[in-house]
Amino acid sequence: MHQDIERLKQEFELDWQSADNAQETESLRVKYLGRKAFINELFTRIVQMPALERGNWGKELNQVKQYLTARIAEKGSSSAGQEARLDLTYPALNLNEGSRHVLVSVMENICGIFEKLGFIVAWGNETEDEWHNFAALNFPQDHPSRDSFDTFYLDLPATKFGKSLLRCHTSPSQPRIMKEHKPPLAVVSPGRVYRPDEVDATHSFMFHQIEGFAVAEDINFAQLKGVLLSFARQFFSPDVNIRLRPHYFPFTEPSAEADISCFLCKGKRNPEKKCSVCKDKGWIEVLGCGMIHPNVLENCEIDSKKYQGFAFGMGVERIAMLKYGITDIRLFYENDKRFLEQF
Ligand code: PHE
Repeated sequence: MHQDIERLKQEFELDWQSADNAQETESLRVKYLGRKAFINELFTRIVQMPALERGNWGKELNQVKQYLTARIAEKGSSSAGQEARLDLTYPALNLNEGSRHVLVSVMENICGIFEKLGFIVAWGNETEDEWHNFAALNFPQDHPSRDSFDTFYLDLPATKFGKSLLRCHTSPSQPRIMKEHKPPLAVVSPGRVYRPDEVDATHSFMFHQIEGFAVAEDINFAQLKGVLLSFARQFFSPDVNIRLRPHYFPFTEPSAEADISCFLCKGKRNPEKKCSVCKDKGWIEVLGCGMIHPNVLENCEIDSKKYQGFAFGMGVERIAMLKYGITDIRLFYENDKRFLEQF
């Protein structure tokens, strides 16, 4: 028995050394651990042994078997590892790498254009209060937007700034920044806003806006128009024009809505097919703007006799939908990879 075990070990050692690929390792396993392996024959011999010796031989053979198993396993994993490392034709792992969400890249894009024009980027607060969201912005106490049907109020104790709420526009970034920093200022402030709107293809209870404003001595309306035109040409197309239509906002005076000329049909009516972007109007509404109301400057302790400012605010979803021909706002939030992967 002893001699047989020794022979087995020696032979195994030689075979083990020469086995150097997965196939040879498998043959090694079959030869030394398979059904017809010599070690099984040695196990059967135990029954013929004197009863008192059987236990020791059993133990010894089990140790040999464990040893063979361990050595073969060692070979198996190292050779498999080597082959995997060497097989350069093996398809690369699909890392499922993520990318920026289309809304994030549109916001970065827009802010990047304003940064080149000398604006700095500053984020405001999503949780605001009545003073910053309304009062500082010259909304009268009875303005309908203050109604709980139009604003999400938070169940928090009121402070000297009034009740807490989720901001319904990015305009509270104006008083946030103007209270802390004195002119000259040129700032863009992107972020989420919240409104209790019924969700449909063009409305959501949460969306994104970018606020922009500049305050300095002698800021004028022509500069506002120039900045907006420069933005529209860089973002949409170098040949677009803008037009400003009179409008009303409590925090700007005068106020306007800015339209861009349609970047798709260029305003040329095609009798065969209605333009999918401007619906043949030739113009697309993109943002609200105006000269900052003197009351807003005074509310932020800025001397309105010495300083003027302009401000504008745009909806990011709306602009992304126009640019990429997206027809349903809900697609932005559903996390469907088939949609997101296209950007
Ligand atoms: N806050 C306005 C809105 O949400 C947009 C706006 C910003 C208008 C700044 C004028 C100036 O509709």
